[in-house]
Amino acid sequence: MPLDHFKPPTPPRPAQPLGKLELLRRGRRNLLEMFSEKLLNQDYNDSKVLFQRVIICNSPETVQAALVGQHAAVERKSPQMRHALEPLLGDGLFISDGPVWAQRRRMVAPVVHVNRLHLFAPVMVQAAGEAAARWAAQPANKPVAMLEDMARLTAEIICRTVFGRALGAAQAQEIVEGFSDYQRRIGQTDLLSLLGLPDWLPRLLSPGAKRSARRIQAVMEAIIQAHRRARAAGEVEDEPTILRLLMEAEDPDTETNFTAEALRNEAAVLFMAGHETTANSLAWTWYLLSQSPRVAAKLHEELDRVLGGRAPTLADMPALPYARAIFEETLRLYPPVPILPREATEDCEILGRPVPKGAMVLIIPWLLHRKPSLWDDPDLFIPERFLAENAAGRSKYAYVPFSAGPRVCLGLAFGMTEAVLCLATLAQKFAPRLADGAEVRPVCRLTLRPEGGLPMHLDRR
Ligand code: HEM
Repeated sequence: MPLDHFKPPTPPRPAQPLGKLELLRRGRRNLLEMFSEKLLNQDYNDSKVLFQRVIICNSPETVQAALVGQHAAVERKSPQMRHALEPLLGDGLFISDGPVWAQRRRMVAPVVHVNRLHLFAPVMVQAAGEAAARWAAQPANKPVAMLEDMARLTAEIICRTVFGRALGAAQAQEIVEGFSDYQRRIGQTDLLSLLGLPDWLPRLLSPGAKRSARRIQAVMEAIIQAHRRARAAGEVEDEPTILRLLMEAEDPDTETNFTAEALRNEAAVLFMAGHETTANSLAWTWYLLSQSPRVAAKLHEELDRVLGGRAPTLADMPALPYARAIFEETLRLYPPVPILPREATEDCEILGRPVPKGAMVLIIPWLLHRKPSLWDDPDLFIPERFLAENAAGRSKYAYVPFSAGPRVCLGLAFGMTEAVLCLATLAQKFAPRLADGAEVRPVCRLTLRPEGGLPMHLDRR
C-alpha cells in the first residue's frame, strides 16, 4: 500500500454471507455491515431474504443490463421506498414510474439541465460565501458539527434556487426542520422493510412523519399559491427560480402544465433529493481532506493558482479538475445513496439469468465502488484516479453514485457544480481539522453519513 494514501474507515465486513438473524442484527445497527467479502467479489447474486427474492447486480455489465437494458422491467422503486416517501412526495418523479414518471421527467429535466446552471451558480457561491463568514466568526477552539453545517448550506442553496426571495427565513426553517424530522422518522422504520416484508403488510409510518409531511406541504403550497396569484395579477417576476421555471414548463406531448399539487410534489422531490446527498458528501470531503495533507496541499495549490483568493464562478469549473476529482473520489468511497433498490414489475432477464416479477433488484454502489477487480487499492483515498488521464477506459457502470440509465440523477450537474463551488469557496480560507478523539464511522440508514456528525475545528489557512 502506498504510504501517503489515506485509508478511510469502513464498517467490519464479514468474510461469508451472514445467517438471517445476524443479518437482521447487524442491519439494524448499520446496513453497510450486512454485506460480506464474498458478495463484494461476486458479479451477481440471487437469494431469498425472509419472504423476498433479492437479486444483486455487482458488475458494470449486470448494472448496465439492469438499469439500461431492462429499464422498463425494473424502473420501479422498491415498495419500501415508495411507502416511506409517498406521504411527502405524492406522485413526485422520484418515486413514480411508468407514464407519470416519464411525463414528470420530461418536464423537470430541462429546468435543472446543465444549460441552466448559470442561473443557479451565483446563488451557490453566495450561500458558500455566507457560510465562510459564519465560519470566520466561529472560535477556532470550538468545533462545529460538520454534517449539520453542510446540511444548512445545501438546504439554503436548494431553498433559494427553488423558491427564491419569496421564501422567508421562517418558512425556510419550517421546511428544513420538517424534512430532517421526516427523514429521521422514516429512517427508523425502514430497515425491516428493506429486508423484505411483503408489500401487503400495512406500513407503519409514524403519525409524526405524516405530520411533518403535512407541515412541509403547507409551506410549499402557500408559496406556490402566492406565486400563482402574482402571475395571475400580471406581476412580472425577475428571479429565475426553479419554481418559476416549473410553472412555465409545458409537456411537449400533451401541451399541459403542472397542476398546483404536482408542482408542490416536484418541489419537494428536488428539495429531498438535492439536499442531504450533497451535504453528506461535502461533510465526507472535509473529513478526507483533513486526513490527507498531500491531497489538501494539491487542492490548495489549484485553488490559489486558479482563483488567487477571489470567489469562484461557473466559468472556473473546467480549471478546477482536482477539486472535482476529490469530490468524485469522495462519492466513490462514501456514496450518499449506497443502495439502489428496485422492484421487477414483470418477468425479465439480466444477462440470461431469470428475474421473476416481484423480485427486488439491488445495485449497491457501496460494494461496486470498492470491488477489487474494478479499482486499484479500492479502500484508499486517491483522487487522482478521477483525473481525465487516469479515468480513460473505465466503464461508466463501475461508478454509479448518481445511478445510471434513464433514471440517472437529474441533479448530477447541479450537485457536482454546487459541491465544487462550495469546496472552492471555503477551502481557500479554511482547513477544517477533525476534533481530537472524534471517532468516524460511516452508517447507512436511508443515506450514508458519518455517525456523530463529524465534529471539526475550522482552522484558518
Ligand atoms: C452529490 C449529490 C447527489 C447525489 C450523489 C445524488 C444521487 C442520486 C441517486 C443515486 C439517484 C437515484 C436514486 C435511486 O434510483 O433510487 C438520484 C435521483 C435523483 N436526484 Fe440526485 N443526487 C445528488 C444531487 C441531486 C441534486 C442537487 C438534485 C436536484 C437539484 C437531485 C435530484 C434528483 C432527482 C430529481 C432524482 C430522481 C430521478 C428519477 O427518478 O428520474 N439530486 N440522485
